Amino acid sequence: MSRSAHPAGPRHADVLPEGHYAAPPVDLNALDPKVWAQTVTRDEDGVVTVGGVDVKTLAEEVGTPAYVLDEEDFRARARAWRTAFGHDADVFYAGKAFLSRAVVRWLDEEGLNLDVCSGGELGTALSAGLAPDRIAFHGNNKTPAEIRRAVEAGVGRIVLDSFQEIVRVAHLARELGKRQRVQIRVTVGVEAHTHEFIATAHEDQKFGIPLAGGQAAEAVRRALQLDSLDVIGIHSHIGSQIFDMSGFEVAAHRVVGLLKDIRDEHGVELPEIDLGGGLGIAYTSEDDPREPHEIAKALTEIVTRECEAARLRTPRISVEPGRAIAGPTAFTLYEVGTVKPLEGLRTYVSVDGGMSDNIRTALYDAEYSVALVSRTSDAEPMLVRVVGKHCESGDIVVKDAFLPADLAPGDLIAVPATGAYCRSMASNYNHALRPPVVAVREGEARVIVRRETEEDLLRLDVG
Ligand code: LLP
Repeated sequence: MSRSAHPAGPRHADVLPEGHYAAPPVDLNALDPKVWAQTVTRDEDGVVTVGGVDVKTLAEEVGTPAYVLDEEDFRARARAWRTAFGHDADVFYAGKAFLSRAVVRWLDEEGLNLDVCSGGELGTALSAGLAPDRIAFHGNNKTPAEIRRAVEAGVGRIVLDSFQEIVRVAHLARELGKRQRVQIRVTVGVEAHTHEFIATAHEDQKFGIPLAGGQAAEAVRRALQLDSLDVIGIHSHIGSQIFDMSGFEVAAHRVVGLLKDIRDEHGVELPEIDLGGGLGIAYTSEDDPREPHEIAKALTEIVTRECEAARLRTPRISVEPGRAIAGPTAFTLYEVGTVKPLEGLRTYVSVDGGMSDNIRTALYDAEYSVALVSRTSDAEPMLVRVVGKHCESGDIVVKDAFLPADLAPGDLIAVPATGAYCRSMASNYNHALRPPVVAVREGEARVIVRRETEEDLLRLDVG
């Protein structure tokens, strides 16, 4: 579709319909390094390459849609977190962002630990050979079977989320003749500035035990009395996709306050605190995330200062970044199907995936960017909404973005920053087959999670 074929098309800022979008980018062919994986570039023909592999070859070899993951970038980000926190702190990658056996091995090689929150994640970690003592086990409703498996395997810590769970874990550990290392997850009463569904430290939600009213102190009191539990510290996770460090500051202040109360009451200084994950990434050029070393410096300073004020030994800090490691390292590669201009509104670009491979736009109103990746174009920018092929009008991948006006069926487009919470939250809605994850590195593409097949779907259908 050329500009002249659609003269009244909504292309210019002065005729844009209502919505949230920046002005069209000056150069639609540019790939902002803020949102694209580190090795992404265009080759001399204008085709986007990542890890030395071009997207046309990838589309031919593995099909679309596909999550394309830059292994070098993943490792570099993991390493940056590890290095930033040094030897006096531990980094637990939050596996919920994206987990596979290859990822576990990369983390292992880069010296990170792993946070899991289900039997499935635990099983994946163990089957990839990660030492159990490098695993933290989370969840607000771990089943007795999950707890048993975790204790038997010898996980490094279980993060206790309720009074009932304190008793459950203590019982099972005693039955197994073990003393289980545990942390107690508290809610510090911080309203994180993020989407309501991914904020976790205010009091009216399901995670953790409130500091308010002395409940967390009571939980510690009970746990300390149980011989089969080794209480190593306090855990706080305030939410996700957070840019502002002030929430962490308040959380650290309150957690250290609890450590002080515990010292005063029980004469014990708990040796660890975990400040959770939640650090934001750039989904569009407008987002400005902080670097791991800045975050490490800020968190360490806050905890040290608070502890000095409370005359406590500074505990060992741990953090649990998920999105900040995995998110920027992958993009989703789609083939354009239908291009439908709606006069005076925008052009709907339908791709061969949708809310089954990226539910975040529908669920959280998430913002994404998008680019034409199989070629460059000098055509004018056109305002688009990238939508999927599902039976829902809310099946939106990118709400508002600009693509070249000559976009046509068969073009490949890619949505960056989909490495976290896209494959891990993918569904089979409309019996969609979940896309593969392809890791690229030094000119080689390797499928680390294969595409689902119709046989996979039918295997579960035993009726
Ligand atoms: N630690 C705990 C205890 C968590 O609950 C989470 C995330 C993390 C660490 C990692 O947070 P991250 O650094 O990845 O933000 N599905 C949502 C995010 C839910 C996060 C749940 N917990 C999304 O797509 O934005």
